[in-house]
Amino acid sequence: MATSDATSNMERGAARSELSQDAAALNLMEFWEERAALELLQPRQSADPCLWRWKDIEPRLHRAAEIVPLEEAERRALLFSNPGLAPRPFMTNTIFGAYSLYNPGEHAPVHRHTPSASRMLLEGEGAYTTVEGEKCTMHRGDLILTPNGTWHDHGNDGDGPIIWMDVLDLPLVENLNSTVFEFDYFEEDAQSNTREPVQRTTQSVVHPDDHSQNLYSGGGYKPLFIDRERGAKGDHSPMFVYRADQTREQLDRLRNYDGSPYDGIIIEFCDPTTGASVMPTLSYTAQLLRPGEHTRAHRHTANAVYCVMEGSGYTQIGDTRLDWSRNDAFCAPAWMWHEHVNRSSTDDAVLYSVTDVPTLKKLGLYREECRMDDGEEVLVTK
Ligand SMILES: [Fe+2]
Ligand SMILES: [Fe+2]
Repeated sequence: MATSDATSNMERGAARSELSQDAAALNLMEFWEERAALELLQPRQSADPCLWRWKDIEPRLHRAAEIVPLEEAERRALLFSNPGLAPRPFMTNTIFGAYSLYNPGEHAPVHRHTPSASRMLLEGEGAYTTVEGEKCTMHRGDLILTPNGTWHDHGNDGDGPIIWMDVLDLPLVENLNSTVFEFDYFEEDAQSNTREPVQRTTQSVVHPDDHSQNLYSGGGYKPLFIDRERGAKGDHSPMFVYRADQTREQLDRLRNYDGSPYDGIIIEFCDPTTGASVMPTLSYTAQLLRPGEHTRAHRHTANAVYCVMEGSGYTQIGDTRLDWSRNDAFCAPAWMWHEHVNRSSTDDAVLYSVTDVPTLKKLGLYREECRMDDGEEVLVTK
């Protein structure tokens, strides 16, 4: 009996091996071999918690500014490359981030692309981004949007170098195989009689200074004489600039509220006409961690990237503690427990962050859990 069982086991093994080879040759895979990788009980952990320090990045950007001409680089940036996602230069599965430096007088030609992009100025004066004919000047902590399909060019009108953080949903768009960049920009030639379209590398400025602020920074009011849709798509904020001083004032105004147990005093940059996220794919937030504040741990299926605008502290992400200070960048990948701490007993800490929450919510994939004081894990949002 035992011999017969062994024989039938051997025969079955040989038959299965033959089936596997046949299937592979026919571009088929056996579900029972793949099941564990397909039917996950928890979201897969691929990106790592990771910190990029300003003190490491800044000198290398200045070195690049000496030896890499902008004409060659087009955009002189150091890209944040998460080791868990190597060799792709991505911060998380859905979010791309970089720091870029422009020397005085440098200009990146006008272009547009399907990934939605943004900039937050970190250092220097004189930076600008022209978006759909609005020249947006940039000061430290300002958020500038260049959503999917909006023409934009960048530059530095100042006397010294400027550095900003770029954030794009490029990995998400790339995974949907929908990345398209366009560099052939045409506009009517106002000088000619024919007004024939001519190709340009810089957009003509057609809106007044502070156009976005004039239209939308009132809060609670929207102009009815303006079409809210700007750019090729209408599913993003029509306000392309969010000013740092207004953001900071709003955080201060709310500082005596309890705030979020997970994020302190947190506010979202939103479409002022609808209250929706500024991009269809990404949500941008600013959060104030008051002196000594230590938030409760939570985790969510959203990925988050952070930029430290003020102060110093640390974020515990799973088993990894990331100690951050001014101008550092870091990421909290999806479904990892994380909590934030402002280490100072006297000074505020302010973090800007970008998440893919809007994408996940639209697809019904957002899920969040928190950890109570007794260690119990509680489902917050499903
Ligand atoms: Fe761009
Ligand atoms: Fe979070």
